[in-house]
Amino acid sequence: MTAQPHAVKALRISPPAPPCVMVIFGAGGDLARRLLMPALCNLAQAGRLDDGFKVLGVDHNAKDDATFAAGLGTFLRGLAAEGGGEPGPTKVAAAIWKWLQTRLFYQAGDFEDPATYSALAARLAALGGEGGGNALFYLAVAPRFFGDIVERLAGAGLTREIKGRFRRVVIEKPFGRDLASAQTLNARVGKCLEEHQIYRIDHFLGKETVRNILVTRFANGVFEPLWNRLHIDHVQITAAETVGVEGRGGYYDRAGALRDMVPSHLFQVLAMTAMEAPSALEAEAVRAEKARVVEAVQLPSLSEASANSVRGQYRAGLVQGHKVADYRREPCVAAHSRTETYAALKVMIDNWRWAGVPFYLRTGKALAARDTSVAIRFKRAPGRLFGPATGAPAPNTLILQIQPHEGVSLAFEAKRPGPEVELAPVRMDFRYADYFAAAPATGYETLLYDAMVGDATQFAGAREIEFAWRAVEPFLQAWEDGGKVHGYAAGSAGPRQADDLMARDGRAWRPIG
Ligand code: BG6
Repeated sequence: MTAQPHAVKALRISPPAPPCVMVIFGAGGDLARRLLMPALCNLAQAGRLDDGFKVLGVDHNAKDDATFAAGLGTFLRGLAAEGGGEPGPTKVAAAIWKWLQTRLFYQAGDFEDPATYSALAARLAALGGEGGGNALFYLAVAPRFFGDIVERLAGAGLTREIKGRFRRVVIEKPFGRDLASAQTLNARVGKCLEEHQIYRIDHFLGKETVRNILVTRFANGVFEPLWNRLHIDHVQITAAETVGVEGRGGYYDRAGALRDMVPSHLFQVLAMTAMEAPSALEAEAVRAEKARVVEAVQLPSLSEASANSVRGQYRAGLVQGHKVADYRREPCVAAHSRTETYAALKVMIDNWRWAGVPFYLRTGKALAARDTSVAIRFKRAPGRLFGPATGAPAPNTLILQIQPHEGVSLAFEAKRPGPEVELAPVRMDFRYADYFAAAPATGYETLLYDAMVGDATQFAGAREIEFAWRAVEPFLQAWEDGGKVHGYAAGSAGPRQADDLMARDGRAWRPIG
């Protein structure tokens, strides 16, 4: 397919979100500084923030508004100079920074101290105008604070939606560390907030390519009739990363690859790939369908779970030419850690569409290449028309490339030119970059904007989160009971045993990257 950038209409311009104070708990942390602030700059640049928009940072360190703003300015300039990182902001235009800078405020306080919340109430009343105005509370903090902060906000009356003002809370991942803790957290926040006030964020849902899964499936007549067990052999969902734990050893060594990536990001991608068409593109309908398909994921016995999973941990190696130390030498990681940095699972979905079609999920750190993708492997063409003389036809694969090289491609067979009939594998490729001008984005822009306008479609519902934890729990338990954590060299494609998992079924992983 040839690139036709001119054929794409100009972006629809969204109006600015209603004025609000965005209260960021953990304003001094990495998430707030590296992702949220750049995303706000990008939203300001796109004219999607109201003149009345303000940020109120909350964190432990004592500082005043001016020091907070100046510190952020220096940090963002450094980030832009680094080249934006990945994912990242590009350079913040001076005019945009000037606009945003005057809207930055700071409140020092301990998240567990009631005094913080009375101070917050006073600040909100001053910043938000009469009645305190609209507020979006963003919990960019360690998960242990989620429940407490919500309860304290509610206790201080800050979550009450009176006089037409909205009060919403964005909760980061991980949402629990198993089914029981996710249920407890849902119950705690559910006591303080109405469901429409809760925005459980999963930044994968902010990725254009993840959102495009539903469009590919349901806005085209060609794919959906084939999207079932009659035509699909299996599905591979991959989230391969080249990065290691990057200074997050303290968190990661307690979480591991499965908890860190699977019930959240990989299950969101699985849900988008496997769900039925929602009755409308709005939060309740989309979440209901996602929850339904995740609920249908088969719960294996512990022995099935260990047979259908592989975990690995990276050893020293070279990732794209750079030396990477053994995972157990990373700061804040236990010297004899058994935490997995790689996980591969086979899951089955018990419904009419998917019965008998395995979904293979894999994710890992310090791998050969960055590759987040969904590969839909169709069944082989039947019949004896092509055989030893022509080459046996390879099965078709539709690849939804989430990142990098965002796009969709279809691998199929063609006739190699020449007098003989000989098959050759070819691809039809759609690349975002060929059609659309990419605005600088961290992935958080749409999600923040959606939370400000009150659209929860791209946020996870309580039920889908709980069903996802329920589905991975047999694997967590089987792993706790023992079994091997296989070493793999940093810079490789993961442990060899993950290949065996596929080979046993007569299948193979797509090469990473
Ligand atoms: C985060 C995980 O949620 O997602 C990280 O905690 C992981 O460990 C990251 O690196 C991956 O996100 P992305 O957008 O870089 O693919």
